[in-house]
Amino acid sequence: MTEHLGEVRKLQSLLEISQALSNAIELETGLHRVLELLERLLRSGDLGRPLRSDELDRDDERASIVLRRDDESIAIGTPPDVARRVIDTGKSVVEGGLCCLPITVDGRTHGALSVHVREDLDRTQRFARVVASMIGQALKVQQLVEGERQRLLAENQSLRRELKERYDFANIIGNSGPMRQVFEQVTQVAPGATTVLIRGESGTGKELIAHAIHYASPRAQKPFVRVSCAALPETLIESELFGHEKGAFTGAHARKKGRFELADGGTLFLDEIGELSLATQVKLLRALQEREFERLGGTETLKANVRVITATNRALEKAIAAGGFREDLYYRLNVFSIFVPPLRERKPDLLSLANHFLARCAREQGKKIKRISTSAIDMLVSYHWPGNVRELENAIERAVVVCDGQVLHAHHLPPTLQAAEPTDSRVTGTLDEQTAAFEKSILADALKATRGNCAKAARMLGTTERIVGYKLRKYAIDPLRFRA
Ligand SMILES: Nc1ncnc2c1ncn2[C@@H]1O[C@H](COP(=O)(O)OP(=O)(O)OP(=O)(O)O)[C@@H](O)[C@H]1O
Ligand SMILES: [Mg+2]
Repeated sequence: MTEHLGEVRKLQSLLEISQALSNAIELETGLHRVLELLERLLRSGDLGRPLRSDELDRDDERASIVLRRDDESIAIGTPPDVARRVIDTGKSVVEGGLCCLPITVDGRTHGALSVHVREDLDRTQRFARVVASMIGQALKVQQLVEGERQRLLAENQSLRRELKERYDFANIIGNSGPMRQVFEQVTQVAPGATTVLIRGESGTGKELIAHAIHYASPRAQKPFVRVSCAALPETLIESELFGHEKGAFTGAHARKKGRFELADGGTLFLDEIGELSLATQVKLLRALQEREFERLGGTETLKANVRVITATNRALEKAIAAGGFREDLYYRLNVFSIFVPPLRERKPDLLSLANHFLARCAREQGKKIKRISTSAIDMLVSYHWPGNVRELENAIERAVVVCDGQVLHAHHLPPTLQAAEPTDSRVTGTLDEQTAAFEKSILADALKATRGNCAKAARMLGTTERIVGYKLRKYAIDPLRFRA
């Protein structure tokens, strides 16, 4: 009968051991619990006649677990000296009252489990083997989870790097005066937590600038969260921003975190802020002033540690005058403002932007397009770009799709651009004017092909470098422009 009870207690302990191993998030915590259970069982005599305390140097010598990882090892209890040999050889040591067993994962030894009894070592050993193999299983699961965690971590880091790269200054094209000023402002404002208002026409690159500020700030490792104030109906925007508790309104089936919470420690980018309703403006103002807010239907007050960047293409001052935008909120948002100029005011950037998009689209579409023809460049330059950089990006993308050679020509560009009257019209004018225009385009094409090398261009055209130099000065063509 006692024998039977002992068996039941052993089974019970095995179950508890397996639970301890599978429930613990940290394997080490689980192992401590396993050892407690083992010691309890050893003291009860269910595994074999136990050692008395006075027969041990230390109480925790009754059972111990040691694991070796890379070059560190963790010991729970006091492992016997033979444990090291067991780990090195992978062979059990059973002698005297001691049984020391290897803990293995896929045939490789990662640790040792030892138990100390007075008698009945055989019975003890059978039980200990089961426990050792359970620990091995737990170790394997942990290794798999750790592997997956490392993989996710690596993936996360590479995605971050990609994002950072994408929004790196180097990928924001612009060397014109107005763009340099924008970069300077970004550099000035990025390090702090100042609220920034970005203004500019549609498609000028406001979102790009918002990202650049975030990735150049100390918050770069924290989230960048964007909310488009125009995309959501008024009823949803508040819950989107501040979150809601379960049952806050019909359809609120579960608690949801708002963007303010999700951006914690990072940057919250409120795009198209001019579209926000007056009611939501009040709530936003409070969140910005007091740096606190509540979820919809909630009572808990949450702290907002976010840097706020907003953008709009609307004249907020007019909206204020018309009563559509709160003046106090405007002052809160307009602490530091950056104006992104329209593309027509930074024509010097046009060619580098076009080349940047050409390179990217060609790479994406697997095409080898080397350059943009002079006539196509002229067409790009003379267009007024109401849709700004986005329109240029789309135009180039479309042109790359239809282009089947190595040169992107004017006829590849969208019809909207074709219809526009080029500034230096080539088909009208006096003979001299038309000849000059033709000569200019020949020179430009040759310089494009030779990447701005005048000597090569001269050879290509069967003339001398001196003549090419003279003509370039005459037409005010800078060969350096073709270097890139
Ligand atoms: N200076 C630049 N260099 C490279 N790409 C740019 C630049 N400016 C804008 N772009 C590209 O042009 C597109 C439009 O930019 P973005 O979305 O930032 O404009 P926006 O001002 O936010 O427009 P909207 O007001 O319509 O929301 C994006 O694909 C962006 O990557
Ligand atoms: Mg935008």
